[in-house]
Amino acid sequence: MKRMIILAPSLLGVMMASLSATAHAADGAEVYETCAACHGEKGEGTDSGPALTGVVGRKAGSASGFRYSPAMKRSGITWDAEQLKAFLANPQAKVKGNRMPFDGVHDEAERDAVVTYLEGLK
Ligand code: HEC
Repeated sequence: MKRMIILAPSLLGVMMASLSATAHAADGAEVYETCAACHGEKGEGTDSGPALTGVVGRKAGSASGFRYSPAMKRSGITWDAEQLKAFLANPQAKVKGNRMPFDGVHDEAERDAVVTYLEGLK
């Protein structure tokens, strides 16, 4: 704590810059590992989560073979990058009452990276 206080503002600026540089190197595949248990190693889906292959451009709650919550089916969302980022930032706020037992990706760079990764899941 004491060391923080005596840091010169310019040094703080450098620290912030390097911090965000690290954050922007977030690896989508790595972030996706937190999703894989439910959504499958390659996004193919499991009993615990719908397939995410082709999710970009798809209507929410429409992957075949998964029983979605009524909330997800009714959400009226068509997933694009912005919608996915909003959902992953705070799943319950974006789709109230959905049944994804996951609290979201709170780091913006990680969220961007995983959405880019989802765009590549075909
Ligand atoms: C513990 C299991 C679990 C984890 C972990 C999880 N999800 Fe989900 N996810 C679900 C379930 C279950 C649903 C369906 C929710 C519903 O029907 O309300 C879902 C729904 C979704 C949807 C909507 C899919 C559609 O077809 O409409 C997206 C997008 C999504 N998850 C992305 C992710 C991403 C990205 C991660 C990792 C950062 C993740 N999820 C982590 C279980 C999980």
